[in-house]
Amino acid sequence: MTHEEFYKEKYPILKEAEENLNMLINQFEKNETEKKIAYCSSRIKSPESMTQKLLKKGEQPTNENAVSKVNDAVGIRVITSFVDDIYKVSDWISSQDHIEVIDIKDYIAYPKPNGYRSYHMIIHLNDLNLNAEIQIRTIALDFWANLEHQMKYKKNIKDEILIRSELKRCADEIASIDLSMQTIKDLIQNDEECCK
Ligand code: GTP
Ligand code: MG
Repeated sequence: MTHEEFYKEKYPILKEAEENLNMLINQFEKNETEKKIAYCSSRIKSPESMTQKLLKKGEQPTNENAVSKVNDAVGIRVITSFVDDIYKVSDWISSQDHIEVIDIKDYIAYPKPNGYRSYHMIIHLNDLNLNAEIQIRTIALDFWANLEHQMKYKKNIKDEILIRSELKRCADEIASIDLSMQTIKDLIQNDEECCK
């Protein structure tokens, strides 16, 4: 089933929401003096995964429920180079008049037990009366999340316990490296300001 077939008359709204989010991030980048965003990706949730999610919630898998009962029919992932840029992006999003922040999950400050780190916002786009999900994290954290995500689809793996604990160790090392990179960047910036 295609996205158009599943979402029907809601599809153009979802498309517009996706475009608006991409424009919002472009605007953020334009206002900054140096490049803060490494890359960005957005998507409209696939009919299969939306159907699964609605059924799991005990809801009928309809296009109406997809936009009213689920917050991430539209999602954008914003990947920054440095940790402090995550909060700059989220502050920018929160400051927008046409956006209301519904929920925040700060897995940067409070990582998940498996080591997952990312900053998640559920926002309401007032103009379209639609909720959307924004995930913000660094390149290093995205690298880890992508690998960990692959694990979810592997069933009955022999070394699962070892793999999970190794992944957790990598997550913590990556977080520590992200902080070191942030410190180096801050030092360079201070140097530049001193020598102006
Ligand atoms: P859903 O997972 O969407 O039902 O929502 P939730 O209430 O669990 O929200 P949360 O903000 O925790 O997760 C939202 C999305 O973040 C998920 O759909 C995943 O795309 C991503 N995510 C959350 N936890 C993990 C994780 O442990 N590993 C990876 N790779 N991605 C995660
Ligand atoms: Mg999700």
